[in-house]
Amino acid sequence: MEWDSLWFNGHAATMAPVGTVRDAALAVKDGRIAWVGPRADLPEGAAREVHDLGGRWVTPGLIDCHTHLVFGGNRAREFEMRLKGASYEDIARAGGGIVSTVAATRQAGEEGLVASAAGRLERLLAEGVTVVEVKSGYGLDLATERAMLRAARRLGEQYGVTVRTTCLAAHAVPPEFTGRPDAYIDLVCEEILPALAAEGLVDAVDAFCERIAFTPEQTARVFDAARRLNLPVKLHADQLSDGGGAALAARYGALSADHVEHTGEDGVRAMAEAGTVAVLLPGAFYTLRETKLPPVELFRKHGVPMAVATDCNPGTSPAVSLLLMLNMACTLFRLTPQEALAGVTRNAAKALGMAETHGTLEAGKAADFAVWDVGDPAELCYWLGANPCVGVVRGGMTRS
Ligand code: NIG
Ligand code: FE
Repeated sequence: MEWDSLWFNGHAATMAPVGTVRDAALAVKDGRIAWVGPRADLPEGAAREVHDLGGRWVTPGLIDCHTHLVFGGNRAREFEMRLKGASYEDIARAGGGIVSTVAATRQAGEEGLVASAAGRLERLLAEGVTVVEVKSGYGLDLATERAMLRAARRLGEQYGVTVRTTCLAAHAVPPEFTGRPDAYIDLVCEEILPALAAEGLVDAVDAFCERIAFTPEQTARVFDAARRLNLPVKLHADQLSDGGGAALAARYGALSADHVEHTGEDGVRAMAEAGTVAVLLPGAFYTLRETKLPPVELFRKHGVPMAVATDCNPGTSPAVSLLLMLNMACTLFRLTPQEALAGVTRNAAKALGMAETHGTLEAGKAADFAVWDVGDPAELCYWLGANPCVGVVRGGMTRS
């Protein structure tokens, strides 16, 4: 057999049904995993490049399945206000919050958006991330929503990383539609979504269903529009209150319901039936000093897959470390390290509709993997502020 590269003398946390393979070998051909398993079983073959892992660990490339990586400005001022006692909802109602980032994003221009997001992306990539989802939602008009999605796609090309773009035009009511949320939803459904979908910029559609954002009825209209365009949906659901968001998402066969701290058992059951992934966002939970924990025990009981992501955004989760989120998912939400790791690999791929091609180390899947200088994969969840990533391969190409 002829391979492009061969990796041996390490251990593989495959995240596939075979689990951990000690003293593994992994062969890459044409950007895909050609073979992975115990080194002793490696078929005869030759590789153009051979890499000795020196006893280190290999995992699938990490997948950050929920980010708002592209935005203008930042909200450090609001951080200070919240430290003095103002709540996230108070600030949003007083005209701050998401709409203040909208103003900065409209000002930034596509070039400015690419430049400011690049630094954040580099930090994610340095920690073994190989797939990043990026949402729009700080433009809230056609031109700026387009600029955000184009910026995200350009970053993917520039850095050789898989970027999935999600249109979150239904994130907040833009200032020019104050008091007329339904008119804005009309614009989203009739103009913004169809135009951006026709330009090929939309992999999925998201909305913010919450008392400070859109009602379940308005959210359903956005989902109906997505359905007409044949686009999968996901939802910011039950973050600050139980508005039935997770159940609504499940009714539309959503890829994921995200945040879900306030989701009750009915919602969890509906997610299980629909195969909707629960995306847990411990960075937002921590930043907002939330006290209502997501119903992890119910997700386990009903077999809802759990993913973990940064939610990188300027308001509720200025997080640029997926490894830190692994730690928080364990310490704050009591996920096991194995669950947390599945949350940034296998289940994160499922939350993006990419389970067929990404998220595990298996023959035929994308050759996206990371090499870690650790004695056990649980260390990826254990260290605070350390980065044991010593190598990343994306699409079969060695990146560091
Ligand atoms: O995921 N919940 C809504 N959207 C973001 C916050 C956006 C912002 O505050 O800028 C989130 O938490
Ligand atoms: Fe979010």
